[in-house]
Amino acid sequence: MYDITPKNNQFPMPALPYSADALNVISAQTLQFHHGKHLKAYLDNLNKLLPSSGLEGQPLSQVVKKSTGALFNNAGQLLNHAMYFDQFGTSNHDCTGPIADLIVRDFGSVEAFKKEFEQRGATLFGSGWVWLSISTDGKLVITQEPNADNPILHNLQPLLTFDVWEHAYYLDYQNRRADYLAALWQIIDWQSVNKRL
Ligand SMILES: [Fe+2]
Repeated sequence: MYDITPKNNQFPMPALPYSADALNVISAQTLQFHHGKHLKAYLDNLNKLLPSSGLEGQPLSQVVKKSTGALFNNAGQLLNHAMYFDQFGTSNHDCTGPIADLIVRDFGSVEAFKKEFEQRGATLFGSGWVWLSISTDGKLVITQEPNADNPILHNLQPLLTFDVWEHAYYLDYQNRRADYLAALWQIIDWQSVNKRL
């Protein structure tokens, strides 16, 4: 399962595993704001709040599960964004491997899954995230999570996510959230998704 471990009681800035201009459906400008400003602000706020919280030294997933208020909001948004940026890349765009077998088993086809995932992202009201996760009994599920929530709060193991906060797409797609969601499949690196199983 994906997680981040603190070093000296501070979480490190998650590096982009590609250059800012490498993703042809998300502009370098969006990446510079979204990763360099939004994610960085969540990280900085979390690291400021962490000392004396009682959760110092714990992995990020545990901080998300055990915190409330501002600490939870910033920890949740760090985990959500780190997983979002880490799942993109410049190769492995065909859905293959164990995740493909599970998707076909539980949704009928990769295309049917993508359609439902996009629809759940498009119909999430306000700010939040649409997620694909696997349950403790091995079934894939799609959930809509508001604001900073993450499927680990419902005992699910998160595998894939699309950010539907407006800051994720407004510079490139303005109000066309559905177009943004449909475009993201072009940059998913399914190898990185398989590693989360
Ligand atoms: Fe975001």
